[in-house]
Amino acid sequence: MKQVTSLPVWSNLRADAEKLQALHMRDLFASDDQRYQRFSARAGGLLLDYSKNRILPETLSLLMQLAQQSGLEQHRDAMFSGERINNTENRPALHVALRNRSNTPILVDGKDVMPAVNAVLAQMRAFSVALRSGEWRGYTGRAITDVVNIGIGGSDLGGHMVCTALAPFADGPATHFVSNVDDADIAQVLARLNPETTLFIIASKTFTTRETMVNAHTARDWLLAAAGNDGAVEKHFVAVSTNAEKVRAFGIDTDNMFAFWDWVGGRYSLWSAIGLPIALSVGMDRFEQLLEGAHEMDQHFRTAPLEQNLPVILGLIGIWYRNFLGYASHAILPYANDLRLLPMFLQQLDMESNGKRVNRDGVPVDYDTGPVIWGAQGTNGQHAFFQLLHQGTENISTDFIVAKTSAYDLGEHHRILLANCLAQTEALMRGQTEEEARAALKAEGKSDADIERLAPHKVFPGNKPSNTIVLDELSPKNLGALIALYEHKVFVQGAIWQINSFDQWGVELGKQLAGVIEQELAGKSTADHDSSTKALIHLLRS
Ligand code: F6P
Repeated sequence: MKQVTSLPVWSNLRADAEKLQALHMRDLFASDDQRYQRFSARAGGLLLDYSKNRILPETLSLLMQLAQQSGLEQHRDAMFSGERINNTENRPALHVALRNRSNTPILVDGKDVMPAVNAVLAQMRAFSVALRSGEWRGYTGRAITDVVNIGIGGSDLGGHMVCTALAPFADGPATHFVSNVDDADIAQVLARLNPETTLFIIASKTFTTRETMVNAHTARDWLLAAAGNDGAVEKHFVAVSTNAEKVRAFGIDTDNMFAFWDWVGGRYSLWSAIGLPIALSVGMDRFEQLLEGAHEMDQHFRTAPLEQNLPVILGLIGIWYRNFLGYASHAILPYANDLRLLPMFLQQLDMESNGKRVNRDGVPVDYDTGPVIWGAQGTNGQHAFFQLLHQGTENISTDFIVAKTSAYDLGEHHRILLANCLAQTEALMRGQTEEEARAALKAEGKSDADIERLAPHKVFPGNKPSNTIVLDELSPKNLGALIALYEHKVFVQGAIWQINSFDQWGVELGKQLAGVIEQELAGKSTADHDSSTKALIHLLRS
């Protein structure tokens, strides 16, 4: 595979970046009153305004050429048709099948996966109806009031984020999420619950993840301490996994297991039975609306021309900053408190997918890949890290995500939230010149000496990029479209960077070493380590 940097369009983009360095977005807006119309697009109930980016129309057309010449469309079609694009694990990446509401056949090894997908959805519906109606009862005959999802990474973050985002729609049992092996996590959750009315979902694709298995055993001990016999397990434990054998070995009847498949990547799995806590919390109808929103975005990604294709536009703009303007970090800033876990979810989605240093052929790449993804909800972030966004020396690109309406409707709150969101994107773009700073200080009645002293501190360089994504409302359907938009954005970038976005070998080494050190901390073995690790093991053992 030839490195993408050898394409002539890569050099053209470099030249365009040189030119852009000298331009300020203030002037780009001033000289083009159609800039918003030119650089905004809609799909799946979402509006994307990407006009506050350091781009010219020609930048975008070069980026579109990059997409075409790097084979993005062929790679996308290969994903949708079930080809084994996860080449290091020899698997398709078919999360789109999980939300394929059109039900058209999708073949893996000549076999349509849709009947199995639909069967699990039907199983989820039957279970959620039984549990939510109180027909499913615990070992003392009481209905379930609390559901604890035990899982980590992709078996935690998606369900947790969506349950939090859809809180206004929650009309089922309360949901809790335990992920960390730190006993502080499970201890605090169990302390609030009654074993008679609690159901545990053990969510693990592999059913071997150490953290999840340790938490699952602790949960079972807690239940059995109250119930006094093993019979309670079948009423209080269900599993979501690809590994029936391990589920059985843990003691969960496979009748109480919800399956998924190796072609679902962990961080792309919330659409599968890993989404069970969502279905239990808001009901299966709303879970299916979430799938519908994602399906609509899938169709858009698959069929819309590149120039109007939201995931393509977002992905290419990210590449522009990462590879041509040297940005190393991208902030996710939802102006919706219920989306407060979105930055963390997207951290795994993006960084585990595109944090790669070799291409699909295993050859080290000669360009930057995935940026650091981070963020927090507005307006809180404004009072924490926005100072650095406005006046720091680091260049950071941003996504602002906002819903037109609020589900809570408490007078002025939502208007103030919206005003802050728009004000931040405007301030980041426009900045404040020294003349403006001086004029403002003068208007405040400051002395000439104070103006001289304070003016440099009041200068905002501006020219800081942002995308704004507007949802009509934070509904299950729009949320599904939003998450799928980001999944495909990550895909677009991975395709252009020629990396495998669907494996995660980088998490393995630490897991192996933890296994070795765990034995040493238990005094069961000794191994060779550097002097720092050795001293710390000794310190923590004693
Ligand atoms: O940390 C690596 C990882 O494999 C993630 O990709 C995954 O989402 C998580 O661990 C949990 O894995 P499992 O669902 O198999 O427990």
